Amino acid sequence: MTPTDVAFIRSLVHESAALVLEPGKEYLVESRLAPVARDAGYPSISHMVAALRGTPYGRTHHAIVQAMTTNETSWFRDRHPFDALVTTVVPELMARRAAERRLTIWSAACSTGQEPYSVAMLLLDTFPQLASWNLTILASDLAEDAVAQGRAGRYSQLEVNRGMPADMLVRHFQRDGAHWVVADGIRRMVRFGVVNLIGPWPEMASPDIVMLRNVMIYFDHATKQRLLGRIRERMRPDGYLFLGNAETTLNVDDGFVRIEPTRAGLYRLRSAIQGQGT
Ligand SMILES: C[S@@+](CC[C@H](N)C(=O)[O-])C[C@H]1O[C@@H](n2cnc3c(N)ncnc32)[C@H](O)[C@@H]1O
Repeated sequence: MTPTDVAFIRSLVHESAALVLEPGKEYLVESRLAPVARDAGYPSISHMVAALRGTPYGRTHHAIVQAMTTNETSWFRDRHPFDALVTTVVPELMARRAAERRLTIWSAACSTGQEPYSVAMLLLDTFPQLASWNLTILASDLAEDAVAQGRAGRYSQLEVNRGMPADMLVRHFQRDGAHWVVADGIRRMVRFGVVNLIGPWPEMASPDIVMLRNVMIYFDHATKQRLLGRIRERMRPDGYLFLGNAETTLNVDDGFVRIEPTRAGLYRLRSAIQGQGT
């Protein structure tokens, strides 16, 4: 792979998905794209890049972008956000939405589905009264393969071992050979779709909770700013935003304020906090 091949890949993933490929990550390009080149019938990545140059965005471009995403995830990842959901966020929202009985949660970079399913299982176990609410959990990601796995709700033993408590496994999954499949009741609570965060977003009810966790780390400053601005406009004015451990709105978007518990990566709109007189 030549430096110009890497430059081509770098600009492709940036333009299509806002992903920033840091210098020194050439080994990542090599290991992720060798199978893509092989599947597309090219003898090497360089041959693939040469064939794609100057051609309109197509299947192979898309396969490259998908392959360059990092889909690392786990059940109840980082624990604290899920504790905050149960102790403060959802009880507060249930009190404020008691009349409309509607709650919309958007897991906006859901990877293979562990995050939105963790939310669904936790809410069903903790707040059984939500069963009679209009509760929607939207789960989206750019990576089609990841979304397809989430929609199927099918996980290997290795994947299940990453954070799924044994009692919840028994309650919310069925065994299928060497795999575990999320129970229908939970699967029905989560609606999956392919959404590129830097592209157009589908019509949806304004979310009360947005989980935008561990995806902005791959974006540059301008992309983070645009994205947080769009989230601010899209979410309910008194809603909540969760970011990943290594992410913040600080020095990116002044419209958000980090709130307690700080380890949860939890934010609200400044206007909502000021509206409460705090
Ligand atoms: C590290 S995973 C995070 C998964 C989950 N939110 C968590 O915290 O465990 C990052 C996800 O962001 C997705 N992603 C990257 N760029 C994206 C974009 N432009 N639009 C939508 N999703 C994107 C990737 O496909 C990947 O599944």
